[in-house]
Amino acid sequence: MRRLHLPDSAAPMEGERRIAPSASRNLEPIAAVLAQVLPQTGRALELASGTGQHIAAFAERFPGIDWQPTDGNPDNLPSIRAWTAGIGNVAAPMVLDACAPGWGQGDRTSVHLTNLLHLISDAEAECLLVEAARALAPGGVFCLYGPFRRDGALLTDGDRSFDASLRAQDPAIGYKDIAWVTGRLIGAGLEVDRLVEMPAGNLMFVTRRSSTP
Ligand SMILES: C[S@@+](CC[C@H](N)C(=O)[O-])C[C@H]1O[C@@H](n2cnc3c(N)ncnc32)[C@H](O)[C@@H]1O
Repeated sequence: MRRLHLPDSAAPMEGERRIAPSASRNLEPIAAVLAQVLPQTGRALELASGTGQHIAAFAERFPGIDWQPTDGNPDNLPSIRAWTAGIGNVAAPMVLDACAPGWGQGDRTSVHLTNLLHLISDAEAECLLVEAARALAPGGVFCLYGPFRRDGALLTDGDRSFDASLRAQDPAIGYKDIAWVTGRLIGAGLEVDRLVEMPAGNLMFVTRRSSTP
């Protein structure tokens, strides 16, 4: 797993709990979309849980769903544990490299990924999307949030400078194009239900595994 220098590195707070400013900003908009698309009950898997802020809030808002946090970096597990302590419908966090082939077996009713795709290569992203689809039960939902290129273009100076800083660290990574992601999602067996405009130029793909195997 790559170690990148990111502008939004998590700041310490209250013992083991860390806060990522971007996660604080996008939590409400993401939760609002989830409220429209998640089932009442189910089994959710979050990839790249980071600080654990999101999954702690989602578990409290969607109490009929059992939530499994994961992250590729074992150093993030203490913060995830701290955020989710005492929330009955969250399992202990696990280390999971979402870019490694083979992990995607299961019957999850939803899989969630926020702000990772631009930090990995095309090949890693393609593998991740295939495995996420395989982790879903038929009819299950994959929710993918992040910044993307639109027709190859980056919209704002902030996007251009962030993408350039990523590519300077590793030329294989950076913002993925909507059309490329859509093609990979469909190739993985997912149907794009909605592509939702989110604050700050971000997007949320709400995709679904076909109900017929
Ligand atoms: C920008 S942070 C986003 C964290 C969280 N989803 C959020 O929105 O606050 C990217 C996260 O991806 C994790 N990560 C990076 N590469 C990964 C991989 N190959 N598999 C799983 N997690 C990975 C990092 O450890 C980090 O927690």
